[in-house]
Amino acid sequence: MDFSPGVLILFSLLCSVAGQAPEVSVEPQAATVRQGESASFRCQVRRGAQPIQVVWKKANNQALPDNVKTGPDGSVLTVANAVPANQGQYRCVADNSAGRGTATAALNVKHAPKVRLTPAGPLRVRMGDPVSVECRATGRPRPKLNWKRQGSTLQLVTKDTNDVNTIQWPVVHPEDSGVYICRAENNEGVAEVKVEIIIEGQPGTPVASVGATEMTVVEAHTITMECQASGSPPPVITWSKLRAPLPWKHTVAGGVLTLTSVGRQDSGQYICNATNIHGYSEAYTQMEVESPPYATCLPDQVRLQPGDALRVQCVAHGSHPIRFEWSRGGRASLPPGAQATKDGTLLIGHVKLSDSGTYKCVATNHIGSSEALAKVIVKA
Ligand SMILES: *[C@@H]1O[C@H](CO)[C@@H](O)[C@H](O)[C@H]1NC(C)=O
Repeated sequence: MDFSPGVLILFSLLCSVAGQAPEVSVEPQAATVRQGESASFRCQVRRGAQPIQVVWKKANNQALPDNVKTGPDGSVLTVANAVPANQGQYRCVADNSAGRGTATAALNVKHAPKVRLTPAGPLRVRMGDPVSVECRATGRPRPKLNWKRQGSTLQLVTKDTNDVNTIQWPVVHPEDSGVYICRAENNEGVAEVKVEIIIEGQPGTPVASVGATEMTVVEAHTITMECQASGSPPPVITWSKLRAPLPWKHTVAGGVLTLTSVGRQDSGQYICNATNIHGYSEAYTQMEVESPPYATCLPDQVRLQPGDALRVQCVAHGSHPIRFEWSRGGRASLPPGAQATKDGTLLIGHVKLSDSGTYKCVATNHIGSSEALAKVIVKA
């Protein structure tokens, strides 16, 4: 349809006469209350053609909770005896025959922290095993969390991520037995939860621990792995490799295992074993040896006649993933009709005399890259 300017003006005039969609505002736009207090929001209609119907909704369109009510004409929303779940956005929606207007109010409910531990305890742990306890808290404002040991004022080192504070030991010792307290605090209050940790095992039994439980190293480097052990009498430390002898270029001194010039075959699990008259304790280090690619072309030389198919595979050893890239010596691009696949194959369906030349494959991984050449001779 094509409107002339005169028709457009008439059309918009008719609209404003026929009715105007409601325009609303809320007062206040945000409120903060303590748990148990009340709050009200008024929705005001600024303009719009009557009749206008006003309703309040939760911003996520869920039903209003039982303690949230609206007045007889729908314009006032009252939250009585606020609970933390009432926190959020509320939307006033006004409808008439011409359309809809909305405005939003935010309610913030302050409340004292609540704390939960996982696992709850008491925890019985074997000497030398790992332990961790997560402390999670709710509360507004967001509470600060910390861990203490009962009877000690020292603050413990913990891992803090998004409302979870974790106390952990990679290896527990007998002296770690005790009661630990997670405390959450905000302006509204404080909450504390205790957990008892009981370390089981005879005094003097060895407890072994390694410097790193996982390591990724690069081929040809020299690697050291440390192992420490507590116990009485002092345990004897030995190193071994799971299901394989230790690499022959190794030495052990003072609990430290040194591997000279590691290769990919040296990847695997290494075990430190600490032994005394009371028993033994094992600790593990998983080592991955990574290597740069080593590329070759199969075949590295081809003789073809025009019209023959060319297929050269670039093969690479090394840590995955490996990317392949083919190019042609001295040229910016591969000849038209040539195709290089993701797995490193170079393909030309029907070669031409002009396809003769040297082709280069570059294999790359996150450690390095390697090149290989293939010579292609096309002769009639
Ligand atoms: C550690 O030493 C104990 C006692 O000598 C032995 O029974 C155990 O098999 C050893 N563990 C490993 C992985 O060698």
